[in-house]
Amino acid sequence: MGITAALLGTTGYTGMVLLRLLEGHPEVERILPGSSSKTGEPVSSVDPGFGTSVKCGSHSFLSQDQILAEKPDVVFSCLPHLASAAMCLPFYKKSVIIDLSADFRIPDPDVFYKAYGEQPPVKEFLSGSVYGLVEWHRETIASSDLIAVPGCYPTATLLPLLPAAKHLGSGGNIIVNALSGVSGAGKKAKEMLIFAERSENTCAYSPGRTHRHTPEIQYYLDAHTKETENYTLYFTPHLVPLKRGMEVTTVLTVKDGVKNSDITSVFDEYYGTSPFVRINKAHIPETRETRGSNTCSISWYLDGNQLFLFSCIDNLVKGASGQAVQNMNIRFGFDETLGLPAYGEV
Ligand SMILES: NC(=O)c1ccc[n+]([C@@H]2O[C@H](COP(=O)([O-])OP(=O)(O)OC[C@H]3O[C@@H](n4cnc5c(N)ncnc54)[C@H](OP(=O)(O)O)[C@@H]3O)[C@@H](O)[C@H]2O)c1
Repeated sequence: MGITAALLGTTGYTGMVLLRLLEGHPEVERILPGSSSKTGEPVSSVDPGFGTSVKCGSHSFLSQDQILAEKPDVVFSCLPHLASAAMCLPFYKKSVIIDLSADFRIPDPDVFYKAYGEQPPVKEFLSGSVYGLVEWHRETIASSDLIAVPGCYPTATLLPLLPAAKHLGSGGNIIVNALSGVSGAGKKAKEMLIFAERSENTCAYSPGRTHRHTPEIQYYLDAHTKETENYTLYFTPHLVPLKRGMEVTTVLTVKDGVKNSDITSVFDEYYGTSPFVRINKAHIPETRETRGSNTCSISWYLDGNQLFLFSCIDNLVKGASGQAVQNMNIRFGFDETLGLPAYGEV
């Protein structure tokens, strides 16, 4: 018998991607699609492309109370930050919680405040949450009942950066430029996201140290490198006219004498057996090759002691719902790759 998986905030972009992944997952037997705004309405009224699910039972959106009564094995929260934690609370210690928002990502309340301008909503649970960057925290994820899925920018930045900064970097400034498709901002209508504003147009926003993901990236960079080097991260995102997809270019200074073969060795050591990290020195990755897949594609270029790291992900899959399912697989002892596409488009 398979497990029962519930979703909160199903009608958003990550929720709809998650529905599809769970529908195809061989160990998930039932899906409980939760929605505050569409309770009782058919799933197909919001998401006609999903078709007739065999796992969604009534095919209608459920309230939080209806989901609680069903005692799901796992609850995925696809809600906005500062709203998610309170909605997750009633499931604590009853179901495994996998939260896609930022509410449980940063254990230090001061760092959270710096990013979100408010105290973390349910402070007392922060120490019990695990940061679900799977390739770095597999062991703790396996025994955790509260998993915080990393943000999309942090996922695409940290995966190439952590091994390089930990073993090859010489401290100092790290400069990150990141490009994101507009689905990264969610489904809520905003003038800057409408077609006429974004098509044939691009811009930087929240530069330097002002984007809310900068404290999250800096926090986990420090957590994994503080014994070797100190780094200061400058992160500038850009909105590009793509629906989904994310490209990140990171520049850091490496120690004198670092060679391409050292970089190969470090990536091999960390990701040699990771099914969803693809390292290819010979090819700078493109967003389309990761679109629809749970893969992070990584390459690099070494110029003297300046190391350029390139990474691409699909923000809605490896950057959100796919990574959430990867966490579920580890937590429930399933094969890590189950139900997750490894290959993107051509
Ligand atoms: N989009 C990405 O690429 C991405 C990547 C990584 C992480 N995330 C994070 O994942 C979460 C979901 O993102 P998304 O892009 O799917 O967002 P979204 O498209 O805006 O959907 C969020 C959903 O949450 C519910 N909701 C909205 N406002 C709410 C409120 N104030 N209180 C309670 N429920 C509310 C709504 O669903 P119902 O009406 O059905 O309840 C809404 O459809 C966010 O925390 C986001 O930061 C997103």
